Amino acid sequence: MRKVIPAWAAITLLSMMSVAWAVEPPSSQHNIPQQALDATAPPTTMAALAKARPVTAQHAMVVSAQHLATRVGVDILKQGGNAVDAAVAVGYALAVVHPCCGNIGGGGFMVVHLASGKNLFLDFRETAPLKASPTMYQDAKGNVIPGKSTGTYLGIGVPGTVMGMDAALKKYGSMSLRQVITPAIKLARDGFVLQQGDINILNERVKDFAKYPNVANIFLHHGQPYVVGDRLRQPQLAHTLELIEKGGTRAFYHGSIARKVVAASEAHGGILSMKDFADYSVKWDTPLTCGYRGYTLVSDPPPSSGGTTICEILQILKPYPLAKWGYGSVNSVHYIIEAERRAFADRNTYLGDPAFVHNPIAKLLSPQHADLMRSTIQPDKATPSSEIKGSLGPVEGNNTTNYSVVDKHGNAVAVTYTINYLFGVGQIAGDTGFFLNNEMDDFTSKPGVPNSFGLVQGRINQIEPGKRPLSSMSPTIVLRDGKLFMVTGSPGGSTIISTTLESFLNVVDFGMNMQQSVNAPRLHEQWLPDHAFVEPGLLTPQVRQKLEAMGHHFKVVKSWGADEAILVNPRTGLLEGANDRRRPSGLAAGY
Ligand code: DON
Repeated sequence: MRKVIPAWAAITLLSMMSVAWAVEPPSSQHNIPQQALDATAPPTTMAALAKARPVTAQHAMVVSAQHLATRVGVDILKQGGNAVDAAVAVGYALAVVHPCCGNIGGGGFMVVHLASGKNLFLDFRETAPLKASPTMYQDAKGNVIPGKSTGTYLGIGVPGTVMGMDAALKKYGSMSLRQVITPAIKLARDGFVLQQGDINILNERVKDFAKYPNVANIFLHHGQPYVVGDRLRQPQLAHTLELIEKGGTRAFYHGSIARKVVAASEAHGGILSMKDFADYSVKWDTPLTCGYRGYTLVSDPPPSSGGTTICEILQILKPYPLAKWGYGSVNSVHYIIEAERRAFADRNTYLGDPAFVHNPIAKLLSPQHADLMRSTIQPDKATPSSEIKGSLGPVEGNNTTNYSVVDKHGNAVAVTYTINYLFGVGQIAGDTGFFLNNEMDDFTSKPGVPNSFGLVQGRINQIEPGKRPLSSMSPTIVLRDGKLFMVTGSPGGSTIISTTLESFLNVVDFGMNMQQSVNAPRLHEQWLPDHAFVEPGLLTPQVRQKLEAMGHHFKVVKSWGADEAILVNPRTGLLEGANDRRRPSGLAAGY
């Protein structure tokens, strides 16, 4: 059964810097309609790349996909707040000024490196409602019903962001909720002036905004699309944020906000209940770590696949002289594709919510496993994805935004959080003023049938009540000799993994500065479909020809991802912030 993605979703996902694919089932030939409509991100040239320089700061830095949210974070840091205070303030501010992706209606992950050396992971991923079931998106014949997991109230997971922000602030922040949420309330109430970058994102779903009067009232301007210079005011969201400011998580999970979401869900055929909200909890866990050429990556464990997959790719790549081969060379591209192909096959086969299934992380990241994977890579020939299976045998037992913060103490926070599609499910419950997620699409709707990101996943990630859908989000902190080196991450669904990987490899192996690394044309391979995705400018015609002669297939996609990263320059000690050129409304700023 072919999973059809509505035109807007393909457009939205692509231009929201992710890649969405309508994909044939794995058994047949993959044929992927590709469009990249991120008009604001013209392909970079090698000449432009050579000139790219990061923003530098001596003490502290914030990089986010919306300049006003970055400013909120820098203000908090200047007032004496720490990186966690700033991260929570930016989280709430992005929910207002970057409503496609910043949210209180979704969930995400936070990775923290404390100046003391301690590393932490906070999981505030959404959960499946208690009435959810493995086949809930299938018809009587077992076919996946297009759009059910993405465009209806049945696609909504129980949101985690408000509890996540609260948990982080209470445990490691130094400021009150009032201090960190007030800038967001003000931005929502007074409004903010829209720039071209904001308009481009809003325009992606303008037609959908018109479908629901309560959405149109906010996100259309007297029924028309907003234009540059208009002020977007969100009084209802301001009110909801004030309820959170006064009532904390109780207001969201037990009070009128939950009641309104549940009422809207019931009115629209959804299954969310007050018990779903009351039962929701966040989790502190140990981050997943791995070593690569003297660096330690600190990233997220399941229920994200991000950290595990990035680390598996790096373990495979370790012995190869990428630096000598160079960025965009035949060998580098070949081996990165082959490593990604194998690691994504494992991702899709073996990873799921650890509260429900066993994740064989130690095996996947072992040196023996990397040896085994390398032994199957041929130096001069692409391996067809059809020849790759999950490498451990049968399973045992059973639009997003990233931002980075560093404070003057050396504490660092990486956050990626999401409502999945740009503007999530596209619906707002009553007068709550915030978009709800469609995160349930990250589950396996049916084994072997690709989701919106073309991920062909297995039973391990099947829907179960209370379970967290497997994510690709990868907020990542890199240390060198225990000291902070890099804070990075990106939106982009499955491409998050390769974007975050490249953010690191471009600096460590290919000698780029942070801005060059973020700007550089990208490469993404995810096992199925059997195509590598490339942004224009990565492959010269000669390199492409050679790789194709080796059996590689490429799809050129205009752009994806939005890496908002910070590097601590080991030579100068300065912080180097890089906003992704693909998010022109974003900003790196510090002091
Ligand atoms: O958690 C995940 O992997 C996806 N829901 C992320 C979605 C995403 O990045 C969309 N953004 N561009």
